[in-house]
Amino acid sequence: MTRCIPVDPCAPALDALQEAAECLKSGGLVAFPTETVYGLGGNALDGRAVQRIFEAKGRPATDPLIVHLPAVEALPMVVKSIPDVVSTLAEHFWPGPLTLILPRGEKVPLSVTAGLDTVAVRVPSHPVAQALLRVSGLAIAAPSANRFGGVSPTTAGHVLRDLEGRIDMVLDGGATPIGVESTVLDISTAVPRILRPGGVSREALEAVLGPVDLLERKASQEEAQASPGLLEKHYAPHHARLILVEIPQNEGLQEAFAHLVTQAEQSGARVGALIADEDLAWLETQFPAMARLALGSLNDPGTVARNLYAGMRAMDEAGMDVILVRDFGTAGLGLAIRDRLYRAASQIVRHIAQNGA
Ligand code: TXA
Ligand code: MG
Repeated sequence: MTRCIPVDPCAPALDALQEAAECLKSGGLVAFPTETVYGLGGNALDGRAVQRIFEAKGRPATDPLIVHLPAVEALPMVVKSIPDVVSTLAEHFWPGPLTLILPRGEKVPLSVTAGLDTVAVRVPSHPVAQALLRVSGLAIAAPSANRFGGVSPTTAGHVLRDLEGRIDMVLDGGATPIGVESTVLDISTAVPRILRPGGVSREALEAVLGPVDLLERKASQEEAQASPGLLEKHYAPHHARLILVEIPQNEGLQEAFAHLVTQAEQSGARVGALIADEDLAWLETQFPAMARLALGSLNDPGTVARNLYAGMRAMDEAGMDVILVRDFGTAGLGLAIRDRLYRAASQIVRHIAQNGA
């Protein structure tokens, strides 16, 4: 049985926090809201608890976890040394959605880091996450609280749908404000490198650090275009096939949608669309009967990010076979949105002619 305890997201009650802290200290698993997505927490320094996290998620042991701390001052608990740039980054971005890759401290079990000499660390800003870290006094290892390969949870309901009966407790603090995971940054190279774009934008990092590289996923996308089945699926809906339409001009987008809808419906598939507010009018005219969800304005990737995962889950649960998603660009959180859509997509459509549209 998984206990779900509602908490005030701004001022969680102490008794709920103490109960969750006790559970963690005795090796239990507690899901809790962070500002990005819900995390599946266990005591990071307890090898058995860490083992249980991997089992509950069905996650391969080769995929390392993020360790959460209450403040930068707690870093010595889990890291061996602290590079100079960390204080600058912490000053600007902690608490917040930035994960740093640092030299692993000896007390951190190798299971947390999948055998690596480095450990991923972040200081979350969500009041519930903060309070849980402070009340428990623990370093909390927490991947996103979903089954491996699936869509990350932005509500306690999402967590329960994936992990009910597999974890001890969920603190329900409502929907998470950012909606996509933290930015993972490698600072061991001369030019810092984003390993996973997320809640802190590349622009914000560059304003503080100067140029920042981005680990490219190009190769696998080219492959995926050539042969959709090849793409390693992650952040993906359970049932529906997600098709990302990455065509910048509005007119091309409408034509591509028209072609893809016709194609899908000919094979009897149910089609839904995740679109921008700006698409509602033409979609209504062209496809009045199609299931649709506007995630936010093209000028407001923050809102799109917040609604993205819930939108993917909703379309999946409504029984759609195909989800068409428009591209939202790369400005601000757009980069994280595109990264997640690339990983979730079975197919990426970039040129109408090339794809036969
Ligand atoms: O926003 C988030 O980061 C959420 C919340 C719960 O904090 N957590 C999260 O964890 O997204 P997870 O496990 O779903 O993703 C962890 C990411 C993976 O991409 C993993 O490869 C990377 O962090 N990572 C962890 N340790 C690493 C390491 N030592 N070196 C490089 N990448 C690492
Ligand atoms: Mg995850």
